Amino acid sequence: MRTRIFKINPENIDSESIKECASILRSGGTVAFPTETVYGLGANALDDKAIEKIFKAKGRPSDNPLILHVHSFHEIEKYAGSIPGIARTLAHFFCPGPLSMILEKSSMVPASVTGGLPTAAFRIPSNEIAHALIEASALPIAAPSANLSGKPSTTDGSHVIDDLYGKVDAIIDAGRSEIGLESTVIDLTVTPPEILRPGGISFRELKMIIPDVRKAFAGDINTAPKSPGMKYRHYSPESPLIIVRGSVSATAGMINDLLIENPSAGVLCSDETMSLYNSENKISAGSRENPSEIASNIFNALRLFDKTGVTAIYCEYFDIGDLEEAVMNRLVKASENIVVID
Ligand code: TXA
Ligand code: MG
Repeated sequence: MRTRIFKINPENIDSESIKECASILRSGGTVAFPTETVYGLGANALDDKAIEKIFKAKGRPSDNPLILHVHSFHEIEKYAGSIPGIARTLAHFFCPGPLSMILEKSSMVPASVTGGLPTAAFRIPSNEIAHALIEASALPIAAPSANLSGKPSTTDGSHVIDDLYGKVDAIIDAGRSEIGLESTVIDLTVTPPEILRPGGISFRELKMIIPDVRKAFAGDINTAPKSPGMKYRHYSPESPLIIVRGSVSATAGMINDLLIENPSAGVLCSDETMSLYNSENKISAGSRENPSEIASNIFNALRLFDKTGVTAIYCEYFDIGDLEEAVMNRLVKASENIVVID
């Protein structure tokens, strides 16, 4: 398949490119586009055939539902069934932004989008290119993250080209994603509401609005997953990822021991700890003083390790406050093994 690439400068959005991409979406095609979290692979959410193309391009199991991306709360009212008051309150504080709200779906949303579920996830992205594209298409846009299924999400146009060139109709390349981790998914169809995936909006922020909000993403891996996406192996780089959790010196000691056995392994660390490791293949995700920098670099780092062909990746535990939950959720899902040192 021929893939058209549109390079768009986020500082000066070319409206002709947006129009062309919107018309590809309107005619049932697939367009990968930037959002503030990660890149999404979009198609018309009301067109079964277009939706099928998304699952095919990604190699994604068809029972894993997609998020509907819309440009305003008014659009959510169009495509959701009954809307609880809390959805409006959350939208007031966090939308547009990295929050996906699960609501009852209306009959207009096809079962192919929701993997047969009676509910659908809705998100209003704040990224201006995403916003312009959705508005110009005048459609709800179903979009999973724009990566091959099981691979790390894409946080740069070049990652999308690596994974999806030749598999989709168009790719908008607008450089790096701002947040670099996917949206927080919250289920508002249950009482109290449940967070199904930690992400750009933290538990602490949600708790300020919904004091009894629950976390439904941790816990026993043998219990049935609430979000279909929770049951699949995710975000995995080619080489095994091993997370080491302990004090700074114990972590460095253990990783240096592991490096003696396996000198071609890589280390994923932080600016503050980088000099502690005896390895040629170290990548710092950023400063521990700047958690959002670390969050935004995680997927990029995993992809860089894939390119350099390391035999394993040893990774520090990032205890970085509000974003720790989302960052470590992705890393733990990508990992083969977690070592905790007292
Ligand atoms: O930031 C994001 O959310 C990005 C950008 C592109 O918007 N999208 C994204 O989509 O991460 P995806 O498909 O990779 O992850 C969506 C997650 C999956 O775990 C899916 O199972 C869950 O949301 N989900 C979607 N609809 C759901 C529903 N009705 N009930 C439960 N979980 C749902
Ligand atoms: Mg994904």
